Amino acid sequence: MSAAKPLHILGIAGSLRRASYNRAALRAAQELAPEDVTIEAFDLEGIPLFNEDEEQSPPARVSLFKSRIRAADAVLIVTPEYNYSVPGVLKNALDYGSRPYGDNAWSGKPAAIMGASVGLFGTARAQYHLRQIAVNLNLMVMPGPEVMIATAQQKFNADGVLTDEPTRQRIRKLVEGLAAWTRRLGG
Ligand code: FNR
Repeated sequence: MSAAKPLHILGIAGSLRRASYNRAALRAAQELAPEDVTIEAFDLEGIPLFNEDEEQSPPARVSLFKSRIRAADAVLIVTPEYNYSVPGVLKNALDYGSRPYGDNAWSGKPAAIMGASVGLFGTARAQYHLRQIAVNLNLMVMPGPEVMIATAQQKFNADGVLTDEPTRQRIRKLVEGLAAWTRRLGG
């Protein structure tokens, strides 16, 4: 039997905060990915606020973002929860990636979602909002496993390293699941 084709995943954390738990969770996913899976992190810093007047000639950072989405076999979105939904920074990037009409970089892309919050619900509400948004993006979001990291301040150390072993195992399973989901969808 021949070995499966290596997969390249684009990872996006929906926080610009330097000590972001979601950025840290994305770093953990990079580290825990199986040997034949690489996860490239794309930083949303520098993506300006979307203005439909400018969508036909987007800034270079947006064009780069869309080209990295298109080059990836799948995407991994790591979202904080802000007021029971996704942060504006992430929604803005999702909107930019979907425009102009007819040039939606997300369309048909296999995807997985996870998130970390300091609250008890571990971004559950934000993740279900994100799944709703994904319907219109035509993003093929994997149903499970779900990774909702509650009380993140107890699971990462001061250097932003994920130290909670059960959470590390769940993230490993999610990345393995995304690889299988991507291959199942023909990626
Ligand atoms: C929050 N936070 C938060 N947490 C949560 O579990 N549910 C929520 O609805 C909210 N709402 C919310 C709104 C705003 C504007 C902020 C700034 C924060 C707290 C949030 O979980 C915490 O700040 C995380 O640390 C954010 O993720 P990063 O930046 O660490 O990745």
